[in-house]
Amino acid sequence: MKPFLPVWKQRHNCVKMTDRTEAMSPLELYESLMAQGDKVRALKTAKADKTEIDAAVQLLLKLKVDYKQVTGQDYKAGSPPSESSVVHDNGPAADGADDEDTVDPWNVSTTNAKGVDYDKLIVRFGSSKIDKELVDRIEKVAGQKPHRFLRRGIFFSHRDMHQVLDAYEKNKSFYLYTGRGPSSEAMHVGHLIPFIFTKWLQDVFDIPLVIQMTDDEKYLWKDLTLEDCHRFAVENAKDIIACGFDVNKTFIFSDLDYMGSSREFYTNVVKIQKHVTFNQVKGIFGFTDSDCIGKISFPAIQAAPSFSNSFPQIFGGRKDIPCLIPCAIDQDPYFRMTRDVAPRIGYPKPALLHSTFFPALQGAQTKMSASDPNSSIFLTDTPKQIKNKVNKHAFSGGKDTVDEHRKYGGNPDVDVSFMYLTFFLEDDEQLEKIRQDYTSGALLTGELKKLLIETLQPMIAEHQERRKQVTDEMVKQFMTPRPLNFNC
Ligand code: TRP
Repeated sequence: MKPFLPVWKQRHNCVKMTDRTEAMSPLELYESLMAQGDKVRALKTAKADKTEIDAAVQLLLKLKVDYKQVTGQDYKAGSPPSESSVVHDNGPAADGADDEDTVDPWNVSTTNAKGVDYDKLIVRFGSSKIDKELVDRIEKVAGQKPHRFLRRGIFFSHRDMHQVLDAYEKNKSFYLYTGRGPSSEAMHVGHLIPFIFTKWLQDVFDIPLVIQMTDDEKYLWKDLTLEDCHRFAVENAKDIIACGFDVNKTFIFSDLDYMGSSREFYTNVVKIQKHVTFNQVKGIFGFTDSDCIGKISFPAIQAAPSFSNSFPQIFGGRKDIPCLIPCAIDQDPYFRMTRDVAPRIGYPKPALLHSTFFPALQGAQTKMSASDPNSSIFLTDTPKQIKNKVNKHAFSGGKDTVDEHRKYGGNPDVDVSFMYLTFFLEDDEQLEKIRQDYTSGALLTGELKKLLIETLQPMIAEHQERRKQVTDEMVKQFMTPRPLNFNC
């Protein structure tokens, strides 16, 4: 039998690394780069196996990123690093100690400048790819052009989405469940991705939505007071409401408030707790003997909203309304556990739609982090801050000089500004033109960044405007347990 590794240890090789580059000096890195460049050329000349060439190219790319990280300069063949090389911050996240993808609820990192290998993640997690057939089917059933996140593979993986659509076609409705861990007042654009998409799903399918604010989770995992976590839950709810959710179809709840007040919710938590062993959560989440018991039992609390009878005020005690959970893929371990217990306690398994991560400004090796202000565009940033951050920190796939860029073109696959445009620019044709022009060198990095800045500035300003309109009274309404519009 294969040893069972907790999910956070089940890493896989994105790039088969032959070298550990983190301890290398600039000169050693430069020499490795030269050698790797030679190797790629030799493999190509020899018409070697594509996977072998790809692996060699990936390593070359990684070395280039590392080189820039260490020297602050772009690698140029024939021009060794100068003595005065200094580290500056226009590089990938500095950890570099790992050469494999890590994806779990607490950590996301890869050494690949293009980001996590999501196809491999689908295999590793055992989910299904959102293929063209599924996107077409969603379009048909919803009667709407698919959201750009679906068209562009930002929501890329699912579990049981076909079943949800089968039922919906037979006039059997479903509900949506998503959530947020309120760890600070500051939310960044990456946090909005699941909510933007969930709002679209709510509109096109006209269904209820529950949003769990896990203030309890953040208290258990972080060095924060319960009062602060609860306050962040309410503050974050304002940003979520500003995404445009319909108050007649949306219930937002803080665990601290709702768990204690709802017998039905807590009943489900206890049922789940009885059916999951310590061994199982150790395997799924990597808990150890020194983790507090709050953490060990928390997964049951994130699982409970997947079952419709946790919300009798909405579903009148029915336990069979199917649930669809849009979330970033790092939350999947919670729902693998949920799907495992569901049949054992007589409930349907929730279906899932998984998104990719929103890359940090410094590069797709990691996601945006609210604790590193320079890695993120915050929802409170001014137009000027947005401009400065993009210009100063957004990792560029462009060449060093205008001449070189015009001659060789840029690489949109590692370019953070281009990646952000794929999230937020609505027009497919315009995006494709930008991709082509950047690749050919017709579009310069500065021009690409300008396009991104002009996309983000109004988007964030409009969000701020909508958030200002959210009154305490409205928050209270959204957060009060009550019936919602629902026809099953
Ligand atoms: N654990 C999530 C976080 O830390 C919050 C969360 C709770 C969630 N329930 C969810 C996220 C359901 C997605 C879907 O952010």
